[in-house]
Amino acid sequence: MYKKDFPIFTNTKLNGSDLVYLDSAATTQKPQIVINKLKEFYENYNANIYRGIYNLSEEATALYENTRSRVADFLNVSSSEIIFTKGTTDGINFIVYTYAKNKLKKGDLVLLTEMEHHSNIVPWQILSKNIGFNIEYVPVSKEGKLKDLDKFLEFKPKILSITHVSNVLGCVNDISYISRLAHKIGCTVIVDGAQAVSHMKIDIKSLGCDFYVFSAHKMFGPTGVGILYGKNEILSEIDPVFGGGEMISSVTKEFPVFKSSPFKFEPGTQNFADVSVFSSSIDYIDSIGIGNISDYIKDLSSYAVKKLKGIKGLHVYGEGNLSGIISFDINGLHSHDIATLLNENNIAVRAGHHCAQILMSSLGVSSLTRCSLQIYNDRSDIDKLVYSLDKIVNYFN
Ligand code: ALA
Repeated sequence: MYKKDFPIFTNTKLNGSDLVYLDSAATTQKPQIVINKLKEFYENYNANIYRGIYNLSEEATALYENTRSRVADFLNVSSSEIIFTKGTTDGINFIVYTYAKNKLKKGDLVLLTEMEHHSNIVPWQILSKNIGFNIEYVPVSKEGKLKDLDKFLEFKPKILSITHVSNVLGCVNDISYISRLAHKIGCTVIVDGAQAVSHMKIDIKSLGCDFYVFSAHKMFGPTGVGILYGKNEILSEIDPVFGGGEMISSVTKEFPVFKSSPFKFEPGTQNFADVSVFSSSIDYIDSIGIGNISDYIKDLSSYAVKKLKGIKGLHVYGEGNLSGIISFDINGLHSHDIATLLNENNIAVRAGHHCAQILMSSLGVSSLTRCSLQIYNDRSDIDKLVYSLDKIVNYFN
C-alpha cells in the first residue's frame, strides 16, 4: 500500500524481478516527498545558514531550525535539547568525548549490554584504554531479554549505555523502567534509538533517559544527519570539545565565550541541506501516523516469522519480538551464501555479524541472515522471500 510512495521500487529491477528490499534496519528507502524536498532545497533555498544578512540565508536558516522544532515536538522535548550530528555513531562518540570523558575516572564502571551494536561498544573501549574505567556487559538471553540488570546496577555504574531495539534480535528494552532503576543510583542513561524511531512512538519524557541518539537515514530521511537529544540540565553544564565558527558569542586571544546549547555544539558549516530536508521525513511519518506504522510492522513481522518457521532447518533468533527485525540461520548454510542466492531474485537482506560480534558469540553463532521490514514491505515480499529460501534449502538437500 505504501510502496508506491517510494520510487526505487519502480526504478529498480534485476533480471526482470522487482526489488524486494528487506534491509531497512541498515537504511530505509526514501519516499518521493523527501527526494523532492532535497531538489527543492537546492533549487530554491541554498545558502549557508546563520551567516548571511540576506533573504536566502534567512530562509535556509528557518528551514534548518524548523527541522529542529519538528524533531523536538516528535520526541516531546525542547528545541535546545536537540543537536544535529552525522548519525547515531557520531552521536555516541559525541557523548563519549563531550560528556563521559570528563565524568569518568580510573576504576569507574560503564555498563553496556551484550546486544549493543559496535557503535555503542567501540567508542567506550577506546576511551576506557585512555582513562582506565571498567566496562561490563549485561548478558542477554536467546529471546533477547536482559539478564541480571539489577545485579549489575548494584556495582554502581556511572553510565549505562543501551540500545532501545536490538538490530539483530529486534527485542525492545523497557527504557522507562531501566531509566528509573539507573537513576536511583545516580547512573546516567544513554540510549541508542537507531532501530526504534521509525516505527515506535518515542516520548523522551516518559522514557526518562538522559541522552537519546538516532539517524535520519533509518527513518526515510537523508544520509549524514543524526539527532542527539540531551537533557538541558546536562547540556548547559558541559563545554564543547569541537570548536569552530558560529558556535561562539565572542572570540579573544585567550578563550572564546560559547553560545548556549545547542549552538555551542554545532561548529562550522553544518549539513544544513540534509537537515532541512529531514523535516519532510517527519511529515511523511505523521501522514501515516506512528501508531499505524507500529501496528503494520508488528502484523507483518508476525506473518513473516510464521512463514519463515515453516522452512526446513530454519531457526529464528529472538522469536516473539515484532519490531520488523528477524534474524535466522538455516542448518548447514552460511548466511553469505543465503544472501548471495537471494540477491539473484532481487531480494536484499543483510548477512554476517551485523556489527554485533559480542551478541553473536553469546548466541553461539558467527553470523546470521537478517530481514528487516518497513512500511513499504507487504506480504508478497515475505512470500517471495520464503519461496526463494525454500528453493535454496531444497537445492542443498
Ligand atoms: N546498524 C545498521 C544495521 O544493523 C547498519 O544494519
